[in-house]
Amino acid sequence: MTRTITIALVQTINGAYAHDGWSTGVSTPTDFAYFVSLRRRAGAIIIDRRTALNPKLPVINAPGKALERTPVHVLTESDPQALAAQLAERGLNYHAVGFTPDTLPEVVAGLESNSDEILCESGPNLAYRVLAHYPDTELHLSITPRYLHDERTHFSGLDADIELQVNGVEQRGDQVIVRYAKADPPAE
Ligand SMILES: NC(=O)c1ccc[n+]([C@@H]2O[C@H](COP(=O)([O-])OP(=O)(O)OC[C@H]3O[C@@H](n4cnc5c(N)ncnc54)[C@H](OP(=O)(O)O)[C@@H]3O)[C@@H](O)[C@H]2O)c1
Repeated sequence: MTRTITIALVQTINGAYAHDGWSTGVSTPTDFAYFVSLRRRAGAIIIDRRTALNPKLPVINAPGKALERTPVHVLTESDPQALAAQLAERGLNYHAVGFTPDTLPEVVAGLESNSDEILCESGPNLAYRVLAHYPDTELHLSITPRYLHDERTHFSGLDADIELQVNGVEQRGDQVIVRYAKADPPAE
């Protein structure tokens, strides 16, 4: 079976992904409950370098926690060996994995995972690179009913142009979750 990647992202209605450096600033209890439900069914988790090395974030697979046996992979287009050394220095049991847009499918196929369902909970920069380059990816965009833009909000800085299609829409209380996949290329 082909591995699928689910990307979990939350944003405000005007596209802010973080406030003061934290996605919790744009999340809600309903969004968090949805995020946890995605985590529960994940065989492995993908995060980005910045998230992995952020000392303020809780360790995802800390001993004694629910995700202790869930492999966590830090995908990077930069030097994976340097990253592996930085993770080891911090005592983090995350795997540094190098990829390029062309090698991403084979890289994902080779990831240690407890199932074929992989969850990407990175920031938007890596999330949208994965969406652009891994075919079996679905983005679950959780929209918070709030407009938020000040000097502490963060918007995706990735340069890309990705055509999408909507696979489904779900309302949970005031939160709306839209599921997107890459659109099929136009017929020649
Ligand atoms: N709204 C949400 O759902 C959500 C989810 C997660 C995080 N966030 C928030 O989003 C923000 C981060 O957003 P972003 O993804 O757009 O981050 P970003 O800083 O724009 O991009 C992160 C990527 O930049 C590259 N990079 C370049 N220089 C780096 C360095 N010195 N250290 C680490 N990485 C470096 C890394 O890619 P390479 O390793 O490939 O070079 C990394 O994956 C944070 O505030 C985070 O809390 C939001």
